[in-house]
Amino acid sequence: MIHLIRGFKDILPGEVELWQYIERTAIDLFENFGFREIRVPIMERTELFSRSIGEDTDIVEKEMYTFPDRKGEFITLRPEATASVVRSYIQQKLYTTDPVQKLYTIGPMFRRERPQKGRYRQFYQIDAEIFGSQSPLADAQLIFMLVSLFIKLSVTDATVHINSLGCPECRPKFREALSGLLKQVEPQLCEDCVRRSTRNPLRVLDCKVPTCRDAIAEAPSVIDFLCPECREHFKTVTRLLDTMNVPYVLDKRLVRGLDYYTRTAFEIQTGALGAQNAIAGGGRYDSLVKTLGGPDTPAIGFAIGFDRLAEIVALSGRDFSKGPEVFIAALGKDSQARAFEWHCALSMEGISTEMDFSDRGLKGLMKRASRLKSRYVLITGEQELEQGALVLRNMATKEQVAVPVDCVVETVKSMILQ
Ligand code: HAM
Repeated sequence: MIHLIRGFKDILPGEVELWQYIERTAIDLFENFGFREIRVPIMERTELFSRSIGEDTDIVEKEMYTFPDRKGEFITLRPEATASVVRSYIQQKLYTTDPVQKLYTIGPMFRRERPQKGRYRQFYQIDAEIFGSQSPLADAQLIFMLVSLFIKLSVTDATVHINSLGCPECRPKFREALSGLLKQVEPQLCEDCVRRSTRNPLRVLDCKVPTCRDAIAEAPSVIDFLCPECREHFKTVTRLLDTMNVPYVLDKRLVRGLDYYTRTAFEIQTGALGAQNAIAGGGRYDSLVKTLGGPDTPAIGFAIGFDRLAEIVALSGRDFSKGPEVFIAALGKDSQARAFEWHCALSMEGISTEMDFSDRGLKGLMKRASRLKSRYVLITGEQELEQGALVLRNMATKEQVAVPVDCVVETVKSMILQ
C-alpha cells in the first residue's frame, strides 16, 4: 500500500464541509470589501521566491521544495502566495486597469518544515493583498477585515500583534544598534542565532530558544528608531484600529519570517493550538513590486493559515457536514427505474438527492438513509406505483405524507422548500 508523504494530509468528506464553510465566509466577506479573486500557479521559478522572501530566511535557506525540471531549470513549489501574486501583478500589468488592486487567493503552499500539530509540509493559505495604496487606511482596512472574519467564524482566542519594521531609511540604524547588542551577547546565543546575527539580525528577535530570549531581553525596540514618516504612519494605523474598536498588542519583538516587509507588520496569535500560535500574518511590502521589476507600488497583505483556522473552528464541535435532502428508497426493478428519473430531476431542480442502486430491502435502505443523515426519505415500491402515491417521510419528526406519482418532483420540491 502506498502512503501519503510525511507532512501531507487528506481532507476528507465530513471535514471538508468545515473548510468549505470557512472558505465561503471568507470569500463573501472579502468580496464585500472590494477584493477579487486571482488564481496563480503553484510552481514558479525558484528565483522569484529567493529574491522576494530573501536568501537569508529559513524558508529560502532550508524549507523550499526546489528541483530542476527535465530541462534543468530550477522550479519551486510555492511556499507562500504573495510573491506569485506580485509576479502576476507586474507581468499582467494589472496596474494599467486600475492602480489600486485588491486581490485574494486561496490554495496550497509547501514548506519542508518539521511536521507537528498545526504545521504541515503542504498547508493552505487564505491570502489577501492590496496594491497601490500607501494610506494607513489600507493597513487598518486589512486588519479590520481579518479580525472580522475571525469574529464571523466565532474564533475568540485570537489577538492582533502589531509592530512597525520601518523603511529602508530608518531600519539600517535599528539593525546596527541590534547588531551591536548581539555581538556582546553572542556566547549566550543558539547556533542559528549566531549565524543570523550577522546575516539577518532581526530574526534573532523572533527566536523561541529561552537562552536567546534572555540574552536579548534588553534589545532596542524598532519603534524607537522609526523615521518621522514611518512613525506617523504607524501612529495613524493604531489610531484607526482604536477607532474601529479592534484590540491589539504592540509587539516590539514581532519581525516576521520573510524579508520583504516594510512598516506595518502584524500577526494573529492564539493560545488554542499549542506551539503553532500564529493563525495569520502579514504586513506592508512597499518595495517588493519595484524590486521584482514592476513600477514603484506600495502594497500590503496577509495570509491566514487555513489548516490552523480550521482546527480552531472545529473545536466548537459544530457539525458542518450535510446529508441529502431526499433519499429515495426504491424497492424492486420497476420502481428503481422510476426513482432514477426522479433522482435526476430533483437533483437538477436544486434538491440534493440520493438513491441506492443495489437491491437492498426497505430496512437496509432506511438504515443507509439515516447513516447519510437524509432529511426526508421518499419510499417507492411496486405497491405504491400501482396505487399512484408514494410516501415521503420526515426523518426527524417521523411524519409521513402521500406524494402523487404523476407529480413527484413538483410535490417534493414544494414540501421541502416550504
Ligand atoms: P507567513 O507568516 O509565513 O506569511 O504565513 C502565514 C500563515 O500561514 C501563518 O501565520 C500560519 O498560520 C500559516 N503557516 C505557515 N507555515 C505553515 C505550515 N508549515 N503549516 C501550517 N500553516 C502554516 C506569509 O506567508 C506571507 N505571504 C503573508 C503575507 C501576505 N504578507 C503579505 N501578504
